[in-house]
Amino acid sequence: MKALIAVLGGDGIGPEVVAEGLRMLHAVAAAGGHDFTLHEFPFGGAAIDAHGDGLPPHTLAGCLAADAVLLGAIGGPKWGPAAPVRPEPALLRLRSELGVYANLRPITVLPALREASPLKAELLEGIDLLFVRELTGGIYFGRKWREGTTAFDECAYSVAEVERVTRVAGRLAEGRRGKITQVDKSNVLETSRLWREVSTRVIRDEFPGVALEHMLVDSAAMHLLRRPRDFDVVLTENLFGDILTDEASMLAGSLGVLPSAALGDGRRGLYEPIHGSAPDIAGRGIANPCGTLLSVALLLRHSLGLEAEALRVESAVRAAITDGARTADIAGSADNGASDAPPAPGVAGRPAVLSTRQMGDAVLQAFAALS
Ligand code: IPM
Ligand code: MG
Repeated sequence: MKALIAVLGGDGIGPEVVAEGLRMLHAVAAAGGHDFTLHEFPFGGAAIDAHGDGLPPHTLAGCLAADAVLLGAIGGPKWGPAAPVRPEPALLRLRSELGVYANLRPITVLPALREASPLKAELLEGIDLLFVRELTGGIYFGRKWREGTTAFDECAYSVAEVERVTRVAGRLAEGRRGKITQVDKSNVLETSRLWREVSTRVIRDEFPGVALEHMLVDSAAMHLLRRPRDFDVVLTENLFGDILTDEASMLAGSLGVLPSAALGDGRRGLYEPIHGSAPDIAGRGIANPCGTLLSVALLLRHSLGLEAEALRVESAVRAAITDGARTADIAGSADNGASDAPPAPGVAGRPAVLSTRQMGDAVLQAFAALS
């Protein structure tokens, strides 16, 4: 098949992990006889420096023209809260312009990575959860202003916004274990009470086979760690989804192995690892590319309809990790990537801790072996 893919490396470790994603896309194209055109565009802090705008017009046009967008990460201390132009609004604008209102963040735990999680191994058995985070509304997109010494952030949700993302969660739950936990703060917030009403109606009327439960966000934060295997699909608003998915990433051992897909009404999607730009390790070539490689798998599945290829990429990541391939973040508590000491020798001649490129190589080798 033919596909046009816009590629935004962004800032920090973004370009490093995206380089591995591009190698994988080339491998998938070569293996399946596909014709992928990959266009790279400036985005985030790098684009602010070069063009004065985190989302320059030609980047936005390139993304709107593409079948899918692969993104690394944005942000960094150079463009902190006090900077005149910050990269984060560019990401929010991109999500909004692409209309990708449903953010899928699957959390799966590889048995080989159980020891990388700070949680007890027995808690991690049987976890397979999928967050559906609303991505283009809520407090992220509300009016922000100051009056004298007071700051305001407005949070608004419409019925239509809640309906459409609930339908995405409903369809996904039907293909899984058939359970949705809708998370909100309805004991305090009016928007949350709307979420409860609307999600209840949509699931009852349109997804009779799906069981819907509601949970307050503070309680959900606790239960995600206490009994994570009880969750199937977690449906929640933008801000709560941002926070809870970072928390849930600890079940998988590292933020570095988790992908995401942002989808709208059509097939076009925005795919990014859920980790940030990690300025503390940027430029050292030690970041984990697996979150990006798994995001490539989601891109193949959801935007290009290449399910077999998506499964093969996912199997390759799993096989490489099961075979012992480890970047610093998943190497265990002995080396968290913050040390400058040379990597210790590992088994079978493989260094105990792989660089970003070496991890990419390990996954590509596993991909080739799966043909
Ligand atoms: C994420 C990130 C972004 C968000 C930031 C960079 C604006 O944390 O994708 O989870 O909050 O959505
Ligand atoms: Mg986040």
